[in-house]
Amino acid sequence: MDFKQQVTTALMGALGDSLPADKVAQLIETPKTSDLGDYAFPTFILAKTLRKAPQQIAQDLVAKIDQTGFEKVIANGPYVNFFLDKAAFSDQILKTVLTQAAKYGQSDLGKGGNVPIDMSSPNIAKPISMGHLRSTVIGNSIAKILTKVGFKPIKINHLGDWGTQFGKLIVAYKKWGSEAEVKADPITNLLKYYVKFHQEDVAHPELDDEARAWFRKLEAGDEEATQLWSWFRSESLKEFQKIYDMLGVEFDSYNGEAFYNDKMDAVVEAIEAKGLLQESRGAEIVDLSAYNLNPALIKKSDGATLYMTRDLAAAIYRHDTYHFVQSLYVVGGEQREHFKQLKAVLKEMGNDWSDDIHHIPFGLITQGGKKLSTRSGRVILLEEVLNDAVQLASAQIEAKNPDLPNREEVAKQVGIGAVIFHDLKNDRLDNFDFDLEEVVRFEGETGPYVQYTNARAQSILRKANQEVVLEDQLVVADENAWDVLKMLSNFPAVIVRASKEYEPSIIAKYALRLAKAFNKYYANSKILVDDDQKNARLSLVKSVSIVLEAALDLLGVQAPKEM
Ligand code: ARG
Repeated sequence: MDFKQQVTTALMGALGDSLPADKVAQLIETPKTSDLGDYAFPTFILAKTLRKAPQQIAQDLVAKIDQTGFEKVIANGPYVNFFLDKAAFSDQILKTVLTQAAKYGQSDLGKGGNVPIDMSSPNIAKPISMGHLRSTVIGNSIAKILTKVGFKPIKINHLGDWGTQFGKLIVAYKKWGSEAEVKADPITNLLKYYVKFHQEDVAHPELDDEARAWFRKLEAGDEEATQLWSWFRSESLKEFQKIYDMLGVEFDSYNGEAFYNDKMDAVVEAIEAKGLLQESRGAEIVDLSAYNLNPALIKKSDGATLYMTRDLAAAIYRHDTYHFVQSLYVVGGEQREHFKQLKAVLKEMGNDWSDDIHHIPFGLITQGGKKLSTRSGRVILLEEVLNDAVQLASAQIEAKNPDLPNREEVAKQVGIGAVIFHDLKNDRLDNFDFDLEEVVRFEGETGPYVQYTNARAQSILRKANQEVVLEDQLVVADENAWDVLKMLSNFPAVIVRASKEYEPSIIAKYALRLAKAFNKYYANSKILVDDDQKNARLSLVKSVSIVLEAALDLLGVQAPKEM
């Protein structure tokens, strides 16, 4: 079922050998409006070889093209416009979607190759931020998209559970903290201590020396330090888990930075063995000037290892463990330089597979135009955001559908789905401002709008109360249905593009367009009238619902049947 192929074949029959088939396929365009047909072929490129005006070439081609299987083929200036046989198209696409159902759009591009995805990766003793939310939902969606095209993603939560900040936290806890406070509300209070540390150390720089000493103790396995660290870690994880449960995201591994503690010496030795390690002001570095990058810091002057060292160990561990075909890091754009350095050091060490590492950066979420940071304590608490979103959704459902039986459950699916969808509909790299009211609206370019459209389709099917019959010719002859049918046929190509660009927004934008096209169709036609097209119309409604649900699923958003 490839309509573009049909157009290419028709063109090749008329062109003879003036252009190779792949070139012809490349040139074929999709016109902006449907009055220009479904496909268009520009003739400019042939003007030189054929020594004719493009307009003339278009007319000559139309005269020669075998038009069977098309509604019509016409010359329009320097273009040949192809109008597909709508009845055949409708029948074919609806049967394909209905028989393949949830499998529609699935492919085997990835051939089962492993793809570790480093995602979410919040820092212990700090709240999960909006940035971590982005990493979590983008990573989760990329994992679903890659699965759909035949890869095997491994979702890794590379927790920030090691580093000098734990020295600071231990000092702060011992000075100002209490066990009861941490037990009652771990993240809020651990953050409070951490913020206080940064307020105090301006006037008392000796605090920093104490913190460094405690981190050294921790690295050396000191009992008190280790016990505090592991307590902070488990209390924090419990809090993170609540949010992951709300978002419906699961991980295959929680191997964070601390996991690589015993694998670090080997990395440093390997770098040294290659003659790459240099001293610079007491610290040990790898010079990367050949890459136009700042030197990579491997060890501090006091011997403490760093974020980079742990990432080197992690990259090598993932390579040896998963034999990956690609290794992804869904981490904010602020860390671009870090990942360039990581790849460069791995390359210098002789690891060719460093080319298969891809940093998948994303933009910042701001609030009222301002950046959010943990140090100053200016954070949006994600759990609050999600709860507020559920509240807002609940209020709207109450107004629209007060008798909905499982309202609370649906409010969760809608509220949380809205936050996820909003995050994913923006191009990954764009910065955007977060305004909850706008996110949860039922109209406009929102998740609830797509969910609502699907619920509407489901309600039509419930009212019809009849199974669609596949043996019939499934022909919906209606100008508004035509856009819907064409969009349905684009879904597999849309998924492939999203997988190649690691770009969930491609799926989100597609879902919005399909929902819009379907609503236009719905507004202009009577679906439930008893005539000989009813079965075909219902099969269109069912196909739309199948594809909307599949698209939402690829984003990690639920699709309630009623709302
Ligand atoms: N914990 C880090 C942060 O919050 C993100 C870690 C990303 N993953 C990695 N392998 N470096 O900034």
